Amino acid sequence: MLDKIKELSETIASYSIDSKDRLEQFRLEYLSRKGKITVLFDDFKTVAPEIKRSIGQELNKLRTLAQTKFDEIQEQLSTNNSDTNVYQKIDTSLPVIPNELGGRHPISLVREQIYTVFERMGFNLSEGPEIEDDWHNFTALNFPENHPAREMQDTFFIERNPDIVLRTHTSSVQVHVMENQKPPIRTISPGRVYRNEAISARAHCMFHQIEGLYIDKNVSFADLKNTLYHFSKEMFGKDTQIRFRPSFFPFTEPSAEMDISCFICNGKGCNICKYSGWVEIGGAGLLDPNVLQNCKIDPKVYSGFAFGMGIERITMLKYQIKDLRLFTENDVRFLRQFKHAE
Ligand code: PHE
Repeated sequence: MLDKIKELSETIASYSIDSKDRLEQFRLEYLSRKGKITVLFDDFKTVAPEIKRSIGQELNKLRTLAQTKFDEIQEQLSTNNSDTNVYQKIDTSLPVIPNELGGRHPISLVREQIYTVFERMGFNLSEGPEIEDDWHNFTALNFPENHPAREMQDTFFIERNPDIVLRTHTSSVQVHVMENQKPPIRTISPGRVYRNEAISARAHCMFHQIEGLYIDKNVSFADLKNTLYHFSKEMFGKDTQIRFRPSFFPFTEPSAEMDISCFICNGKGCNICKYSGWVEIGGAGLLDPNVLQNCKIDPKVYSGFAFGMGIERITMLKYQIKDLRLFTENDVRFLRQFKHAE
């Protein structure tokens, strides 16, 4: 019987199995109820008691050998198979699962739109620091010391050094430009500005402005009007009208607030324009000669205009957004709506 066991274990060890059919054949031959190993176990019952123990051990080894071989090969064959199945199961005619891409923030979108219009008119882009000194934010712009106009903008001052402020407008960038460049100057400066305001649906302590500056010989108020008229038509539609209302800014003279005809109701009156037919979009004016002088540009040779707009305000008008706080809350349900906006 030992010889038989030995012979069987040799054939089992060298038995080659390369398919499921062959594996089944192996199982039938050795492990099934009528298989060779089972038959040996039947014979085992008649073995003399003195050698039962040693034969039993060998017989168990044989069965383990066959069972292990069977298990291993069964596992191999099933993984191989699922590999080929993956390819068979892929339907290459199915459309791909779209990759969710992020979108632009509405403020970035509108800033870009505004800049694109001015870029086509020959304006370049300039940027400057958000932490400013008094000179660039106020003094150079003709805000006299202790003049109430400094309070007009609810400035954040640094307690230990009142010379340092968070810029209240991007006009400060224009001072840098005027100090460092020679006319002709045509530039647009967008950026964050800060004012000490309580946060509500209509006001925030941080928002964005975009300001323009044009300095050359013989720049007139007519140039300013035409530039902003062209901008408004490009930005809000070709039938847009503009109007100027007299105003005051320390750095411009004369100064004006600029309104555009309400593009929601076409001037007929709605709740966006509060039934006036007009919406305010910014301030503008001819540069005060003192400002040019402060920046070492000769006001007898050069003149210029400046204008400034709030990007949030224009975005709110354009997309009819009712609450300013939505811009900074990062709610994806809000932001997603601008993914395909223009
Ligand atoms: N800087 C002004 C503001 O923040 C806007 C402005 C810019 C007005 C340029 C006139 C000319 O209110």
